[in-house]
Amino acid sequence: MPARNTSLRYGPVAQFLHWIIVLLLVIQVTLGTIADALPLGLERLVMMSRHKSLGITILAIALLRLGWRWFDAPPPPPMPRWQLLAARCNHWALYALLFALPLSGWLTSSAANRPVSWWGLVQLPDFVAPDAALKEVFEETHELLVNVLYALVALHVAAALKHQFFDRDGLLLRMLPGTRE
Ligand code: HEM
Ligand code: HEM
Repeated sequence: MPARNTSLRYGPVAQFLHWIIVLLLVIQVTLGTIADALPLGLERLVMMSRHKSLGITILAIALLRLGWRWFDAPPPPPMPRWQLLAARCNHWALYALLFALPLSGWLTSSAANRPVSWWGLVQLPDFVAPDAALKEVFEETHELLVNVLYALVALHVAAALKHQFFDRDGLLLRMLPGTRE
């Protein structure tokens, strides 16, 4: 089975990288939301530390994904020009969020003087010195970006479903493992 994309559909590597990020994002948002609702204490600290480690893991996979995309260009989408443009904007905004979200979280932690450790194995450097005012700005940014993510993913999923079930152009199948066009 060829690993790369064909001119009609995504290959197994691109599909795996897409769906593993979707799965990890669901867990990541759940961890962040639960941790954020907990009172200050050990439970919150543990949950938040998992959130940070998983967020850095997502950042690493996103880098890998962009590297793979550069090596293996995506198949051209079967849609009119305006939709192509909208899809490109949506995809690039989603890629940008996969970097901006972890980085804003990392900056929040640095400014709050809570250094980030990756699963207790590697201590990551701090980008900024502790600063309460700056921490507020990064925290607000992180929260804002989470809401932008929700909106863009909702649009993205709605568009994928519209193509699959109204236009019936098989777009969703291009990204689904084990299917054929
Ligand atoms: C794709 C990656 C990430 C996603 C989707 C994400 C999502 C979230 C969510 C949903 C919350 C709950 C509060 C809110 O709605 O803002 C949150 C809070 C938080 N996240 Fe993340 N996060 C990501 C990466 C990271 C990383 C890598 C770090 C640190 C290294 C981090 C640090 C924090 C901190 C300190 C909070 C609590 C402060 C706050 O309320 O904003 N996050 N995150
Ligand atoms: C259930 C949720 C999702 C569904 C059904 C879905 C579906 C799809 C489909 C069908 C494509 C291929 C479009 C085409 O053939 O041109 C695609 C591409 C893409 N999806 Fe999703 N997606 C989902 C969630 C997400 C999430 C959460 C992200 C967040 C990062 C994301 C980011 C992307 C990106 C960046 C591309 C473009 C890939 C490229 O060409 O480089 N998707 N998605």
